[in-house]
Amino acid sequence: MSDKSRAPGAHFSEVLARHVNRRQLVGGILLGGSSLVLASLGACGSARTGRGAAGVTAPAAAEPALSFEEIPHRLDATHHVPRGYRGDILLRWGDAVFADSPAFAPRAQNGERQSRQFGNNNDFIAYMPLAEERAGTTRAAHLASANSRRGLLCVNHEHTRPQQMFPGVGGNAPGSAASEIAADMAAHGHSVVEIELRDDTWRAVLDSPFNRRITPHTPMRISGPAAGHRRLQTAADPGGRDITGTFANCSGGVTPWGTVLIAEENFRHYFHGDPAAIEAEHPHEARMHRRFDILGSARHYWHLREPRFHIEREPREPNRFGWVVEIDPYDATSQPVKRSALGRCQHEAATVVARAGAPVVVYSGDDSADEYIYRFVSAAAFDADNLDNNRDLLDSGTLYVARFNDDGSGRWLPLRHGEPGLTRADGFASQADILIDARLAADAVGATRMDRPEDIETSPVSGRVYVSLTKNDQRRRADAANPRQPNPAGHILEILPPGGDGARDHVADEFQWNVFLLAGDPQAPPAQRGRYGDNTSAHGWFCNPDNFAFDPGGRLWIATDGFVDFGVHDGLWAAQTSGPGRASCRHFFGCPRGAELCGPCFTPDGKTLFVAVQHPGDEPGATFAEPTTRWPDFREDMPPRASVVAVRRQDGGDIGG
Ligand code: FEO
Ligand code: CA
Ligand code: CA
Ligand code: CA
Repeated sequence: MSDKSRAPGAHFSEVLARHVNRRQLVGGILLGGSSLVLASLGACGSARTGRGAAGVTAPAAAEPALSFEEIPHRLDATHHVPRGYRGDILLRWGDAVFADSPAFAPRAQNGERQSRQFGNNNDFIAYMPLAEERAGTTRAAHLASANSRRGLLCVNHEHTRPQQMFPGVGGNAPGSAASEIAADMAAHGHSVVEIELRDDTWRAVLDSPFNRRITPHTPMRISGPAAGHRRLQTAADPGGRDITGTFANCSGGVTPWGTVLIAEENFRHYFHGDPAAIEAEHPHEARMHRRFDILGSARHYWHLREPRFHIEREPREPNRFGWVVEIDPYDATSQPVKRSALGRCQHEAATVVARAGAPVVVYSGDDSADEYIYRFVSAAAFDADNLDNNRDLLDSGTLYVARFNDDGSGRWLPLRHGEPGLTRADGFASQADILIDARLAADAVGATRMDRPEDIETSPVSGRVYVSLTKNDQRRRADAANPRQPNPAGHILEILPPGGDGARDHVADEFQWNVFLLAGDPQAPPAQRGRYGDNTSAHGWFCNPDNFAFDPGGRLWIATDGFVDFGVHDGLWAAQTSGPGRASCRHFFGCPRGAELCGPCFTPDGKTLFVAVQHPGDEPGATFAEPTTRWPDFREDMPPRASVVAVRRQDGGDIGG
């Protein structure tokens, strides 16, 4: 991008904010001091700076114009980047994570091999910088290095498609051989892999002490108000505090104290058994399992290997999933922690906004039709001087849910035990009940049902909040915030916390909002017509916004999941959020057929963009033997493999121009 910080007339505070943002600050840690610290953290640790009242964001600065030559809508077997860019395959499903990892053998996978390899169907990506000097370096120093040439790539592995993963598995039936189930399980979870940029190419560093696989078998604990609650207790964990594993990890977020948040989303697909069978003994659990669409047949056969995945044998096990999990990528021996104070739902992401001395805010959407948007506000303030003091910050605070009024105003409604609708008489015996059943609590306070909330990001420049609503085929009644019925193409909302651009207060309970864009074809009939900025080109429109990232200059990058159903590849589009280019989208990256795009994530310098191509070749009838693409290897002995792609400009410039 052009460097607007040198623009004539730029206010000093803008220059400082942009300089610090781009060069010195990642994860909210300012090199050489902490008096000017604010972090509004996106998917990849890019941080924003500012001063002022609690929760405000940085001084506003102009967003640089987008100058790349956009790519056309397409649908073919491979991925596409604009002229003048490279899109290099960095990590594929089955690649080594450790120096002694076994080679990928797609016809001989088992749990042991897969647990030493990069997992399948990569989603969220965080880039956490590593200082060049390793010995004695603290987490704060790693963050402050803002190193854009060496870091930890932290990647979720959301799910699998067993029919494309294993030979001989047909239709939607999961592989049921013991080795297949074990391999399937180990392909889920998360990977931490050190990467370095050498000779203008990113490579994995396999002998790194930071490298790690987290799987559905990794021991972890749950903390906060629901920890130990009776409804989290199982035969294997009578104390209700020690949970085995995480899975269905979709998107996430980064904290300014150097940890990564990963969100458990579609955990429902992994539980087998009919809620009716537990109705008599566990009527409330049966009700909640139905609310999460646990209706009988799991998509996977994990219950054949572990009874905990059969709700008729362990009715409370699903209550131990659907949380936000905090991981310390700088300590491969650390135990992940599920933070119950952030509530249980199908969390899409967890986007952190923080400022020194102020409460931390975490935004999250519940990705299901007619579910809600949440905000957590911590009780204690972010301590920028001693990062370790923040390690339990997400255990105490208030969870809120959004109500969008038709007049463009909105309010965060507290989900606090004892408030009207949230008392024992209403069925909530404690705050733990409210958090375990956040959906019921949100129903009770009159929150707004949304069109499948996916990612949420905050602008590093304006502090505005962007929410992707990917689609909703079953909306019964349109409202101003979900204006289409049905809504097959989705839309993007813009939330404006009070205070004005550059000084927005994310802790305040009131906000304004508007529709940033309506996705879809701008030539479609009026009821489904897309609505964008005036300068959107022929290939600038898209459907089904899902993941977001902001680049360091404050431009919004929008990844899609579902455009392929309209006959166009999924991919990435970019837009300014203010000025004449507002909401005028340009097409930057195209996926191979069958894939959705996840995890857009920039290095702190804005010169590398990592994207996660998920489920390439996932099309009706596709199998291991007969895939519709063999991306990215294009070898007859290799199935399609979900992969992280590192995008760089051939001239080394800023992504997007
Ligand atoms: Fe995992 Fe809502 O996308
Ligand atoms: Ca998603
Ligand atoms: Ca994101
Ligand atoms: Ca998705």
